[in-house]
Order: sequence, then structure tokens, then C-alpha cells
Amino acid sequence: MDAEGVSQMTNPHEPPPTGLAFREAMAFAASSVHVVTSIGDHGDAGITATAICAISDAPPSLLVCLNRRSYAHSVISRSGVLAVNNLSYDQLALADEFAGRGSRSMIDRFARARWTRGSTGTPLLADCLASFDCRVDHSMTVGTHELFICAVVDIVRATPRRGLAYAARRFFSVDLDRSAGSSSLAEPGHRPRVHDRAGGEPRAGEV
Ligand SMILES: Cc1cc2nc3c(=O)[nH]c(=O)nc-3n(C[C@H](O)[C@H](O)[C@H](O)COP(=O)(O)O)c2cc1C
Repeated sequence: MDAEGVSQMTNPHEPPPTGLAFREAMAFAASSVHVVTSIGDHGDAGITATAICAISDAPPSLLVCLNRRSYAHSVISRSGVLAVNNLSYDQLALADEFAGRGSRSMIDRFARARWTRGSTGTPLLADCLASFDCRVDHSMTVGTHELFICAVVDIVRATPRRGLAYAARRFFSVDLDRSAGSSSLAEPGHRPRVHDRAGGEPRAGEV
């Protein structure tokens, strides 16, 4: 910091941080945990992912970053559709499964939970906090990863329970206090349909 409290930029002539230094520092950035799913010629594919963020609510869109060497990446690149399933804490075992830690086949991983189908045909995980059924509109390669920019075409939500977060290479339970925020808004333009898993009619425009 200088006298005005402004951080100095890194000297552009210094070598950039190593990948290891970057990973060590990023390990302390807490993230929600998702299983990203898609449909392929050889069945369903899924991968545990934290590199996901909302881009905009007008139109509702998500950014999903996947390693180009992963099986799920190859499936999504071909199908052009994916679903982002936001896990609850009691679905922690699925996060391990879809990160390949149980080294089971895709069929066995999917067999460990209940699924429905979104309008794009992607598997939506029953009882997770929210599922976002998406169409990939754009993609971009950055180093080892592909950035999928996705239009959200449908949303299915469950009653909020404890969320699942990942930080410092461990899973954590997140207490989701619904009273801390509010839903709302009706913006012009494309609106995904929203369903409660508990039942009830879709509520257009609510996000
Ligand atoms: C908590 C957690 C978060 C992860 N986040 C991502 C991610 O955002 N993108 C990604 O490509 N891989 C991510 N991974 C790694 C993949 O889940 C894992 O490497 C995947 O199973 C590899 O795909 P494969 O089945 O083709 O080997 C994450 C793993 C864990 C445990």
C-alpha cells in the first residue's frame, strides 16, 4: 500500500505468478459446489464444478468453466446444452462422486441420486438447492479451460436447506437464511420458467 492506501501493481517486468502460487491463493476463495450435467451419444455426463457464476439476469445467463480434458467438457461441446445443479450439504457424497473420487462409471455415479429431465434433455438433480437448465450460446478457450456462456431456459428450485461450499480444499455447510435476502423482479426480455420442487405453478420472471 502507498500513503493513500492504494495497492501497488505488480512490476510488469517481473515473471507472472506460477500456477502453483495461483492455486494456493485461490484455495481460500470459498465457492458453491455444483454438479454440471449434459447428455451425450453414450449417455449422461456429469462433473463437480465450482467455477460457475451468474453473468446477468437480463437475460438470465451463467458462466461455466470446465477443464478441456474432462469428459463432461467433450460431451457439452457436442450437445450444446448443460444443467447446473447447486448441491445442498447433504449431497456432499455426490460432489466426491462427480469429481471422480469414487472412480465409478458415469452410469454408477448417476445411479446414486434421483434425476428428472429439463426441457433441453439435461439431467436435473432432485432435491438440490436449484437446477438451471441451459443452452450454450457462446464458448471461449482460455488455457486449459473452456468458458461456456449459457442462456438459462428453465429453473427448478427446492426448499432452501444447508448449502455446500468448498474452501481450503474442504467442504463446508452453509447456513442459508432465506430471510436475509428477497426474491423479486420482472424484467423485460427472455425469462426462464421457474418451478418449485415442492410443486406449484411456474412463476415467470422470479429469480
Ligand atoms: C470441489 C471441486 C470443484 C471443482 N471444480 C471444477 C471446475 O469448476 N471445473 C472443472 O473443470 N473441474 C472442476 N473440478 C474437477 C473435476 O470435478 C474433476 O477433475 C472431474 O471429475 C474430472 O473429469 P473426468 O471425470 O473427465 O476425469 C472440481 C473438483 C472439486 C472436488
